Amino acid sequence: MLADKRILLVVSGSVSAYKALELIRLLRKAGARVTPVLTAGGARFVTPHALQAIAGEAVHQDLWSLQAEAEIGHIRLARLPDLVAVVPASADLLAKMAHGLADDLATTLLLATDRPVLVAPAMNWAMWGHPATVANMAALAARGVRVVGPAVGAMAEAESGPGRLSEPAEILAAIEAALTAAGEGLLLAPPLALPLTGRHALVTSGPTHEPIDPVRYIANRSSGQQGHAIAGALAALGARVTLVSGPVTIADPAGVAVVRVQSAREMLAACEAALPAEIAVCAAAVADWRTAREAGQKLKKVPGEPPPPLELALNPDILATLSRHARRPALVVGFAAETETVVENAMAKRQRKGCDWIVANDVSGDVMGGAENTVHLVSAEGVEDWPRLPKAEVARRLAARIARAVTAP
Ligand code: C5P
Repeated sequence: MLADKRILLVVSGSVSAYKALELIRLLRKAGARVTPVLTAGGARFVTPHALQAIAGEAVHQDLWSLQAEAEIGHIRLARLPDLVAVVPASADLLAKMAHGLADDLATTLLLATDRPVLVAPAMNWAMWGHPATVANMAALAARGVRVVGPAVGAMAEAESGPGRLSEPAEILAAIEAALTAAGEGLLLAPPLALPLTGRHALVTSGPTHEPIDPVRYIANRSSGQQGHAIAGALAALGARVTLVSGPVTIADPAGVAVVRVQSAREMLAACEAALPAEIAVCAAAVADWRTAREAGQKLKKVPGEPPPPLELALNPDILATLSRHARRPALVVGFAAETETVVENAMAKRQRKGCDWIVANDVSGDVMGGAENTVHLVSAEGVEDWPRLPKAEVARRLAARIARAVTAP
């Protein structure tokens, strides 16, 4: 995702400026090029030498440097990157941005750039809560500036509250999300009106557990990673998301309402209760069968007797039910995990289940429980083959496609 992307990283004055170094490391590890810009305030907390060494690129500090102007020029520098990130963004720099001041290199670049801008504020909680900062942030948001954080927690002054710089990994994820949205042409809308704002998305994820008796169950190897990532990616684009999840050990995605269920029948009931929704994505690995009769007591192993027979009954098909529901979501997306003739099976499945899209994946390798996925998007328009991607990236691309589909005129 970040491979070959160029990030202009503005570091302004805050004790947390040291975290910019870790962010640069993460960005470079992900394949991005980082061009650091250091303000005078930022240089009080982190040295240009440290930034330069970690970024592997010259640090820009001076608006009036004749040599730099001759070589690159601040206007070109402003238009060079795929994204401008301000990490940390001090109250002072945010105020200057909000008012269009341009009295040093960083502020001049921020005024001149036509690229997406993301800020990670860092300041004392009282400064963050001051009506001046609140008004500045509202002005920036209305102009499409993206914001990550600030986090709540301990401050440099032995106080606690909102204003801590977000962790580098979180900022990295926000940069990736902003770049994806920009690539899909979705950044034109300000964050206050994200493309899926006001839409309800229902996502199923994880395996189901079908009880045999009070202590035993039938299950499968689904980890829930892909479904959870999709729920998070839809929420990041502004959707209100209900995630109906079978038993998983991974964390809830941010900004999503999670309904926890065990069995397929509970999952169906939770999905129907969550309607109406404009979008449904069925990524759960629902058990096809449950035991015909759940034993009320633990089944006993009796010496000399044969094992008890396990009679199975068919589970409801949640995807097919939602696709034919009286309150059918406008866009219904299913998954097809196949080990052979992946695309053909997915096309047939799309027809059979009555959904709009099928995301088909080959699970013959290490996909289930693994971190990556190779998928094909099967729709009425045809088949798109996507490259092998991290599941989080599959989720972001799918969310962006969904946003395009449901917002198309
Ligand atoms: O029929 P199959 O399990 O291969 O179909 C996979 C798709 O159908 C997935 O989207 C899965 O979430 C959904 N499904 C479902 N309820 C079932 C079985 C599958 O929603 N009982």
